[in-house]
Amino acid sequence: MSNVSHIAVIGAGTMGSGIALTSALAGKKCTLIDVQAPQLENARSYHEKQLSKLVAKEKLTSEEASHAQSLLDYTTEMSDASSADWAIEAATENVEVKKKLFQLMRDAFGEDVVLATNTSSISISDLASAVEGAEQRVIGMHFFNPVPVMKLVEVIKGANTSEATTNATVELSEGLGKIPVPANDFAGFVSNRVLMPMINEAFHAWDDGVADPEAIDSIMKLGCAFPMGPLRLADYIGLDVCRDIMMVMYNGLNENPKYLPNQKLVDLVEAGKLGDKSGSGVYDYKKE
Ligand code: CAA
Repeated sequence: MSNVSHIAVIGAGTMGSGIALTSALAGKKCTLIDVQAPQLENARSYHEKQLSKLVAKEKLTSEEASHAQSLLDYTTEMSDASSADWAIEAATENVEVKKKLFQLMRDAFGEDVVLATNTSSISISDLASAVEGAEQRVIGMHFFNPVPVMKLVEVIKGANTSEATTNATVELSEGLGKIPVPANDFAGFVSNRVLMPMINEAFHAWDDGVADPEAIDSIMKLGCAFPMGPLRLADYIGLDVCRDIMMVMYNGLNENPKYLPNQKLVDLVEAGKLGDKSGSGVYDYKKE
């Protein structure tokens, strides 16, 4: 399991693209897989743009940037990555979608390939139950956005994850320049158990008229040294993702009503206002 050289990343959204870029910058070959070709094109543009920025900032030579780009492959077919020695699922935060993908991953990759998931809240043991016989190779490897910048990988073992899988995950995370920190397999783990209720409370404060979004964000930035205010961060993460994580915690933590998503958050999602990725959310990002 050690000496990983080829990572398959399934899902070319924000997180998958970031994981792929981070892998290539660490010298790993990385195949990015998505059923939607336009997502792969967006990922490729993101990679080209970020690598050019690193060259412009003299953090990489143009040869190093070309080498990193040459390590990245983009495909709609999982079978194109059958020689991968590690797999990370970074698809949409939906338990049924992820379970189906895990079955495809088990069948596509070698028998000792670790099947990691970048889920931000779904139970690892539950996902592992979809791949009978391979449960010991399933683990949570939760990255943070923007992946090339954020240092953490939250590492979550399922009930049947083997020690070898856990040790290899710690080793790979460090090899990608990250700091792995363990958390137990509860809905939302640590990061979202703490972050999402705070974001949700910011929506309640807005909804109750405590302050407008700009003031809420300024107060948390200036008074609590947050790099982004909670409502700006919600747009950055994706309002649909925030709502979905709250629902995973509501369902997974005894239907405690404190985890129900705020109605304003739900209304924005239902209106298609998902944050940065849709051009508007709490704030409007459309260019004049
Ligand atoms: N990809 C790669 N690099 C990026 C990037 C991206 N998408 N966005 C920013 N960067 C880099 C920039 O190139 C810049 O690099 P240098 O320092 O080398 O110049 C650096 O990050 C800082 O960027 P900026 O100067 O443009 O802007 P900033 O100083 O305002 O920082 C930020 C931007 C890093 C996003 C900062 O605002 C921040 O840390 N925000 C909070 C992010 C956060 O909380 N993320 C976790 C979200 S929760 C999650 O991901 C998990 C989940 O389950 C929901």
